[in-house]
Amino acid sequence: MNRFRERIALVTGAASGIGASTARLLAQEGAVVFCADRNQTGAEAVAQEIRARACRAEAAFLDVTDEAVWIALIASIRDAHGRLDILVNSAGISAAAATSEMEFASWRQVFAVNLDGVFLGTKHALGVMRGHGGSIVNVSSASGLKAAPGAAAYSASKAAVCMFGKAVAKECVDTGIPVRVNTVCPAGVRTPMWTSMPFFKDLVDKLGSEDAAYRSLAGPAPGSRFSEPEEIARAILFLASDEAAQITGLDLVIDGGYTL
Ligand code: NAI
Repeated sequence: MNRFRERIALVTGAASGIGASTARLLAQEGAVVFCADRNQTGAEAVAQEIRARACRAEAAFLDVTDEAVWIALIASIRDAHGRLDILVNSAGISAAAATSEMEFASWRQVFAVNLDGVFLGTKHALGVMRGHGGSIVNVSSASGLKAAPGAAAYSASKAAVCMFGKAVAKECVDTGIPVRVNTVCPAGVRTPMWTSMPFFKDLVDKLGSEDAAYRSLAGPAPGSRFSEPEEIARAILFLASDEAAQITGLDLVIDGGYTL
């Protein structure tokens, strides 16, 4: 249970879903975890829950689209601990809209959070990690590999996250920066990203329960289902850990066969 003993980890989107689950597991395995989110109350609740289990976590406000906040947060972590070992970029938003009806502002917002946020985190984490080494794990999506009709902005932003990760991984190898950069690509995961969407609420009303709504979205194949956030978090931990020391630039697909 000590895979990340004394490691300093920063997780974005840590107030909810995959980010929260990743923060919990990292802390359980010995890391000091900074739970960062624009939802500061949610991040504080997750950090408190972690501390209540005698593990180490702090909450931090972070809007991943704001470079000044990134700079201040990473500087405060460096000042307090002298290092940052792990960055998990999990903050993300989706936007369902037919392309001909999508507002430009909405397109830009999706890219600002899903792609600019990953760029800013990577840029400023590298500034600290390049001295002592580290691991960055970005949360993309199966929708970055397989077209998601009705969510073209989301799909395109996630495809960009995959290639951004590969390009930075190669840049680090080629320039001798001891930082690995990997990406996870989950298909549907049971998180508030779904339950907060109006169409999902309509589906729950129609089918009678969240379970039934998730089952209908997972499709008719007997073996297909939504993942639990922890199933994604475990893959993130593997990529962040020394067990993956020779793995960089990977898109790890976690989808129960959805993209096959
Ligand atoms: P979630 O909605 O449960 O959590 C997302 C978190 O990101 C929230 O706490 C939210 O406050 C935070 N966030 C949003 N914008 C932010 C910003 N500008 N600055 C800081 N924090 C911000 O969603 P979930 O499902 O945990 O999503 C995590 C990641 O996984 C996202 O990148 C998402 O695109 C990706 N993903 C999710 C899938 C799913 O089916 N739930 C499938 C594939 C990928």
